[in-house]
Amino acid sequence: MRPTRRLRPFRTLTNRSRVRPADPTLLHESRLRRRIDRLTMTTARGVSAHAAFGYGSTAMSKEKPERRTTQRTTRNRAVASTASTGRPSALVDTRIVYCGDCLDQLRKLPDGCVDLIYIDPPFNSNRNYEVFWGETKEKRAFEDRHASTHAYIDYMRPRCVELARVLKKTGSFYYHCDWHACHYVKVMLDQIFGEDTFQNEIVWKRSSAHSDVKQGRKALGVVTDSIFLYSRSDERTWNPQYTPYDQEYIDRDYRRIDETGRRYRIGDLSGPGGAAKGNPFYEVMGVKRYWRYTKEKMDELIKAGRVIQTRPGAVPQYKRYLDEMPGIPLQNLWDDIPIINNRSNEFLGYPTQKPLALLERMIRSSSNENDILLDAFCGCGTALVASQNLNRQWIGIDISPTACRVMAKRLRDVCKLREGEALWRTGRGFIIRDLPWSEEQLRKIPPFEFEGWAVIALGGIPNKTKVGDMGIDGRIYPVRALPERTGAKAGELDFMDVWYPIQVKQKDKLGRPDVDSFEAIMTRHDRTKGFLVSFDYSSDALAEIGAFFRKSGKVIVALTVREILDEEIAKKLA
Ligand SMILES: C[S@@+](CC[C@H](N)C(=O)[O-])C[C@H]1O[C@@H](n2cnc3c(N)ncnc32)[C@H](O)[C@@H]1O
Repeated sequence: MRPTRRLRPFRTLTNRSRVRPADPTLLHESRLRRRIDRLTMTTARGVSAHAAFGYGSTAMSKEKPERRTTQRTTRNRAVASTASTGRPSALVDTRIVYCGDCLDQLRKLPDGCVDLIYIDPPFNSNRNYEVFWGETKEKRAFEDRHASTHAYIDYMRPRCVELARVLKKTGSFYYHCDWHACHYVKVMLDQIFGEDTFQNEIVWKRSSAHSDVKQGRKALGVVTDSIFLYSRSDERTWNPQYTPYDQEYIDRDYRRIDETGRRYRIGDLSGPGGAAKGNPFYEVMGVKRYWRYTKEKMDELIKAGRVIQTRPGAVPQYKRYLDEMPGIPLQNLWDDIPIINNRSNEFLGYPTQKPLALLERMIRSSSNENDILLDAFCGCGTALVASQNLNRQWIGIDISPTACRVMAKRLRDVCKLREGEALWRTGRGFIIRDLPWSEEQLRKIPPFEFEGWAVIALGGIPNKTKVGDMGIDGRIYPVRALPERTGAKAGELDFMDVWYPIQVKQKDKLGRPDVDSFEAIMTRHDRTKGFLVSFDYSSDALAEIGAFFRKSGKVIVALTVREILDEEIAKKLA
């Protein structure tokens, strides 16, 4: 069922800032393009509309989006159940994570190619996680540019313009933000998509109550985020969602239980408005009156046992079973999605990680199986995993190489998807594109970031604290160390005490003293195996590694950056 919306009247803001409401039925591609052209040229300094659309950059972008959409849909139908294995879109490649600024990456995508967009871009409030992940590139980008809310909006505007361009006419757009900028974001999105395509502000309760009074805060605690939902037209995909009834309501309204154990309530069968409304008049179970159904329909209901008379002579009533009711139609206040904490099964330690259930709800509402979701700020990949779980196609973009590697690991571990170009070409698995690292670049990035890169590339877990880590930059838990999780509460890390330390040195040649200190670490923690990462090793260092093994039986695996880049480490990690 599609909710119908009445168009709001044209509203005059000022003579200079008049925003035309978009008639959804008229908001076709060229109109949106003109709107975006205007906005891009007038408001996003330094970004030409021509460049923003990448006109002429692909043959695809010259085709009519609607026609391409139909082609894709037809083709997708054939592979509708193969979201996890197929490569079905004629328009755009899916199951790809692009590493890079989404502004650049989006320009490579054709017009009207995705069904659903979710974005959760960072704002100044997200500084901690940037430090946590050591993403100095991103940190610089955001700290420098988002000194003010206006700077943030200026940064986001051309990116949202591109997102509006790649969204299909039947598509929906979700923008996740918080109190810092949400009001400005809403105005910006109204300008880009059109005020009348705004559907909802979803208020998501993201934390439990807290008091900052002792810290001197003289305002209310903030426990919610806002998620703005826009669509491109009234033809948008919409699947109503429901939440379960609460027990109090069930106990009050569905207190009757029939002989088969099913709960039910009784409902009125009489025809409101009587004859004037055209309701039929006849007798049911000895009671004559106007009814809401025809005699034939009523007989069917009686035969099906759906009409009940609570006592002789009482007006017959309809028997409505609880297990046939879909639940409460979903409203815009979402306070029922459990918050992620370190006991959650899905917890990765990524501070802005959103719950899978939150993403799944949006994806279910606004897309169908095999539709394509795009998350252009995809962090640790929650939207991608949720899409994969729900048999949707997906495209992810993130500027942070570390986030891309974390995401890849999550897709491999959680979705059991395999990563690799050759496999992906055959229509299976996924790929990460445009990871920037080369040996030369890795020599130049800050040590902190280099450590993160190396540990994650080895499939390890980086140390959360960068101080007091006693020389251990990360730990590898071999697969066999993750067995039955005996005694663990859900989500708890219950690794057996089998882990290998990783130490990372951004040095041209790691020398003997470094090996000596790593040996001390391994001895102190009683580890049988450990990993060193560097660009190269002096012959003294390698000789010492051999001597240490002969003396203690402990293995130090000396990996070079080249070996990691060439992914030649599998054997050494075994
Ligand atoms: C708040 S996090 C997203 C978290 C995500 N929703 C999740 O559940 O994991 C924002 C992400 O946007 C990325 N990002 C920041 N600027 C970007 C840009 N210009 N293009 C693409 N990604 C960007 C950051 O690297 C970060 O991973």
